[in-house]
Amino acid sequence: MAEKILINEVGLRDGLQMQPKFVPADGKLELANALIDAGLRSFEASSFVSPKAVPQMADAADVFAGLPDRDDIDYWALVPNERGYDRAIEAGVRNVALVLSVTDTMNQENIRMSVEESAIMFERVLKRCAQDGIKSRAYVAVAFVCPFEGITPVDTVVRWTDRMLSAGAEDISVADTIGAGTPTQCKDLISTLVGKWGADKFCLHLHDTRAMAATLAWVAAEEGIRKFDASIGGLGGCPFAPGAAGNAATEDLAFMFESSGYETGIDISGLRKAVGVAERLTGLTLGGRITKWWLSQEAKQAQAAQ
Ligand code: COA
Ligand code: ZN
Repeated sequence: MAEKILINEVGLRDGLQMQPKFVPADGKLELANALIDAGLRSFEASSFVSPKAVPQMADAADVFAGLPDRDDIDYWALVPNERGYDRAIEAGVRNVALVLSVTDTMNQENIRMSVEESAIMFERVLKRCAQDGIKSRAYVAVAFVCPFEGITPVDTVVRWTDRMLSAGAEDISVADTIGAGTPTQCKDLISTLVGKWGADKFCLHLHDTRAMAATLAWVAAEEGIRKFDASIGGLGGCPFAPGAAGNAATEDLAFMFESSGYETGIDISGLRKAVGVAERLTGLTLGGRITKWWLSQEAKQAQAAQ
């Protein structure tokens, strides 16, 4: 039987958060539905952050209220602090992703706390998750390179991963926030983490800034990782991390894994439609590295039909 890969779609959160054109909740839900039609079953659907810091996420509660109520789909919300956790619970969220950047400068830029202050606060949130029966994930962000402090040592990632797992996080999203990781660095980091805690405990969150996202995903898959964050059309980037470009494109990772015999449950042509929805909503030209091939196939088909 083919091995399964889970792609967690983060376009609605990481993808949209820095878009200057506001996409109202019904547009976000249209995109979610197009992605569900394409077979996606795991979403980071929004974030309960300060609407002053990220206006695009101001309607997080409306998005959660409008998502199709289905047992076979996990909807995650990013939460930066206890206030965010309270808001998420009020909105009926069942899965929360806490965001801890592992360098002080990045964490201050992002959520105005030192790493230690955030860790103490997230330890409280994780206790509440256990009491409330909420599934939890912790991002270990800037795990490869910090835009302010340079290359992140593997030991630093190990230390904060340990802290979050010990506090009760069910798994860790290892984030190459600005898309600056290299294949060798990825192999070193992921093999160390997998060696300590096992591959099930990790998801890999990649950005394609230097065209390395698919390569790093493959390197991590070889180390046993089966969960990946990706964003439709490669939409995305963090407004507080200079140099962050779009996320790994859902269509690039889905195609890579499907064509190599893994099962993602995703219909690639459905993703093509979802890219169209995302383009209409944002006014951008989108698409992963597979787009050129898609366009050439479509041109051939159009010619054949004439
Ligand atoms: N949701 C909504 N509002 C929040 C909030 C949350 N989770 N946390 C704080 N606030 C509000 C406070 O109520 C306060 O409102 P007021 O100005 O109307 O009184 C205001 O934000 C400032 O609160 P404070 O605790 O001083 O926060 P801050 O200015 O230090 O900002 C964060 C901290 C975490 C709220 C803010 O930096 C943030 O939302 N960052 C998110 C960054 C992000 O989304 N990054 C991308 C994803 S990794
Ligand atoms: Zn990201």
